[in-house]
Amino acid sequence: MDLGGWFKSNRCYFFCVIILQNVFAFNMKHKQNNLLILFTFAIIILSIGSYQQWWNLYFYTGPYLVHHWLGWIGALYIAIITPIYHLLKRRYPHYLRILLSIHMFGNLAAFSSISIHFTQVMTISVLLETGLALYVIVALMVLTGLMQRLRLLPSLRKTWRFVHVSLSLSYYIVLSIHILRNVGII
Ligand code: HEM
Ligand code: HEM
Repeated sequence: MDLGGWFKSNRCYFFCVIILQNVFAFNMKHKQNNLLILFTFAIIILSIGSYQQWWNLYFYTGPYLVHHWLGWIGALYIAIITPIYHLLKRRYPHYLRILLSIHMFGNLAAFSSISIHFTQVMTISVLLETGLALYVIVALMVLTGLMQRLRLLPSLRKTWRFVHVSLSLSYYIVLSIHILRNVGII
């Protein structure tokens, strides 16, 4: 199927408008939630574009390929900012709203950077190992974060939170292995 052609067609445009209209009608009360949904939607389009090779980031800037830099930026952002969020949230509970906004939008930005690295790697034939596990972990963290925030299936709220927080611990372990392997230490 020619996905590239479909994405440039009018049908794709109308499809997007109808989806967004429905999503907005559902979420009119929460402007920030609408932005989160739009951002997620943009990441999906960005990832498809990157996988379809609308652009190619397989060239060097300094010691690394451009998309490896994007992997570094996204991965280290999440690794460093998450414990800081945890500490600040407890220390300054009255700033919770702003801290949570930074947590959600910052991590979505990091996810877009990681998604470009992932989809660029997927365009070459490469053995999927730790990186695939890592991407599944990050995607599930984003999904369970959105489930909590948008109150989707609220009866499972405690489960979303449990999965969201537990996965962030696995993230550090798998990320360390992925980096050590890909810089050639193990
Ligand atoms: C959460 C962040 C990341 C995700 C989801 C991710 C995902 C992936 C995936 C799926 C692969 C294919 C091979 C495999 O499955 O292991 C891969 C390869 C690779 N990754 Fe990552 N990665 C991330 C972060 C990083 C970081 C921080 C670095 C910096 C060292 C890096 C460097 C590489 C390299 C060098 C390859 C080999 C493929 C190539 O040369 O293009 N990745 N990554
Ligand atoms: C992808 C990387 C992410 C990581 C590593 C991560 C990690 C965490 C952690 C550790 C907590 C618990 C904080 C605490 O109790 O001190 C948390 C809470 C939360 N996260 Fe995330 N998160 C990520 C992405 C997201 C995204 C993209 C969203 C929403 C779009 C989100 C929404 C939430 C919400 C609503 C909470 C509950 C509020 C709170 O208790 O602070 N997260 N996250």
